[in-house]
Amino acid sequence: MSGELEITKPLRRITDPSDIPRFAALVAAAFSQDALNRYLFMGRESNPEHPKIQTIEFRAKYWEAIVRPRFEGGAILVESLDWAAIGLWFPPGVEKKPNPASTLSEGVVEYLTFFKALREEKLGTRPHWHLNVIGRDPERTDKGAVTSIFEPFLAAAKASNIPIWLESTNAHAKGIYEYFGFKVVGSTRIGKGIVGSDGWAKEGGEGVESWGMIAGLDGW
Ligand SMILES: CC(C)(COP(=O)(O)OP(=O)(O)OC[C@H]1O[C@@H](n2cnc3c(N)ncnc32)[C@H](O)[C@@H]1OP(=O)(O)O)[C@@H](O)C(=O)NCCC(=O)NCCS
Repeated sequence: MSGELEITKPLRRITDPSDIPRFAALVAAAFSQDALNRYLFMGRESNPEHPKIQTIEFRAKYWEAIVRPRFEGGAILVESLDWAAIGLWFPPGVEKKPNPASTLSEGVVEYLTFFKALREEKLGTRPHWHLNVIGRDPERTDKGAVTSIFEPFLAAAKASNIPIWLESTNAHAKGIYEYFGFKVVGSTRIGKGIVGSDGWAKEGGEGVESWGMIAGLDGW
């Protein structure tokens, strides 16, 4: 049900599973300074000296384990301008498979619970696109790389009048989403009392702010 989706250069759909490690490594690099991901990844032990973040390889493996089942389950993985940026989209009707609850950290459970309820409140059973992951290679500044991750999906969503859902885990990304037409529909702080706004463990910390956003909610 991907409607009018047309992926053309400089965007490329990833169809070869052997590209997944590269995709995951780029996500790991892009998210290396993301406060929320610190907490989700390291939990209550989140600190700059944690062994889990001393090498990129560990984080890349972590992301590979997340991305591979989504790829196999029908998510659309794209890269732009020869790996300057990547995106992972769920087309309408394709959902993440839920992870077994026993494997999830408290931060992940808090995050998933809040955004599942918000998404259901705002969209109910309405078909929608979902931008699940977007990232730019921190060493690349190519013009157009990030825009091209949005364009064909925005066009397909508009053509079939279907909204797009996403979760923004930092204020910088939120501003970019607003530029592309997304509006905040709810927000929360994840890890309140456990981490500060920077995602490092802090007793009584304010938690990391995150926003649910939708484009095309009231029509395009
Ligand atoms: C989110 C992320 C992909 C955005 O990329 P970025 O390089 O920081 O963003 P840019 O400032 O280049 O903005 C993206 C594009 O939107 C355009 N844009 C954004 N806001 C704009 C504005 N107010 N006016 C004009 N153009 C704007 C830029 O021109 C740019 O266009 P380009 O594709 O031609 O380069 C990147 O910061 C990243 O990888 N962050 C870490 C991972 C992350 O946070 N992911 C999202 C989690 S929710």
